[in-house]
Amino acid sequence: MRTRATAFAPASCANVAVGFDLMGFALQAVGDHVTVSRIEEPGVVRIAAIEGLEGLPLRPEENTAGAGLLMMAKKLALPFGFEVRIDKNIPVGSGLGGSASSAVAAVVAGNALLDTPFEKLDLLPFAAEGERVASGALHGDNVAPALLGGLVLVRAIDPPEVIDLPVPKGVTVAVVLPKLRIDTKEARKILSPELSRKLWIEQSAHLAGTLVALFRGDVELLRRSFHDVVIEPQRAQLLKGFFPVKKAALDAGAIGCSISGSGPAVFAFAKNKDEAEKVMIAMRDAFEREGVEVFGSWTSPLDAKGAEIVDETSKVKP
Ligand code: HSE
Repeated sequence: MRTRATAFAPASCANVAVGFDLMGFALQAVGDHVTVSRIEEPGVVRIAAIEGLEGLPLRPEENTAGAGLLMMAKKLALPFGFEVRIDKNIPVGSGLGGSASSAVAAVVAGNALLDTPFEKLDLLPFAAEGERVASGALHGDNVAPALLGGLVLVRAIDPPEVIDLPVPKGVTVAVVLPKLRIDTKEARKILSPELSRKLWIEQSAHLAGTLVALFRGDVELLRRSFHDVVIEPQRAQLLKGFFPVKKAALDAGAIGCSISGSGPAVFAFAKNKDEAEKVMIAMRDAFEREGVEVFGSWTSPLDAKGAEIVDETSKVKP
């Protein structure tokens, strides 16, 4: 019987321009580790340590890693509890799915301690519950790619239905994280609850065009469709330098560029790894020209792996 397990879950980019709260992809290399141990206190979840970031809540119901495990313990009426150690490598408020990464790693590690573990996909509602604590809303566009890897469409959370989306060969993402912080809860509050019919039609065309382009492997259709006419214009006001950075990415040949999740990270799709490197440098330079310091930048394939159980000693820093 396993009594302790460590899981890694990758960072992720949500929304993907056209799929607000619906689409997301995993990023290679960066992510959080969570170690979960069985304790002899039924239903109890104890956050024993958080490394890498200060100021995160230790109360399990307020903690993204704790909330999903609490739901698991309650739903299964487990005869034991969980002690949780979190190792954060994704800055908070970055738009790179840090809370989802911890939520997913926690439930994947917790699952490994169950007598009858769930299938991976069935962990989605637990992980989404953890994510809800951070963003104030139930959405699976970070937790699903962090759990399952790749680029996905979350059609439903509970019961979960997640569709793997193919990506045209070679297409690579460039991500730049400026030294800014945006709180997802706040970035959701500023969004208008209303949507005009005109914008709804326009955005539906972009979402449909993007999905068809992905399934056809049609990069030019992807380029024409990769536009967010609803969320991006509202959130750009929170992100200094976004429009010049987007222009720099497109001028450097990007297929499309938008805000990663609620920001401040910005991502762009490029035709291949070399182009993605060029686009990444163009975006970094543009942020700096706007007087915004850059914290980090990465390129990643779009088929990055999802969460997995790892050896506790394998924890690597990005
Ligand atoms: N879809 C969510 C949002 C993702 O944009 O608010 C948050 O990372």
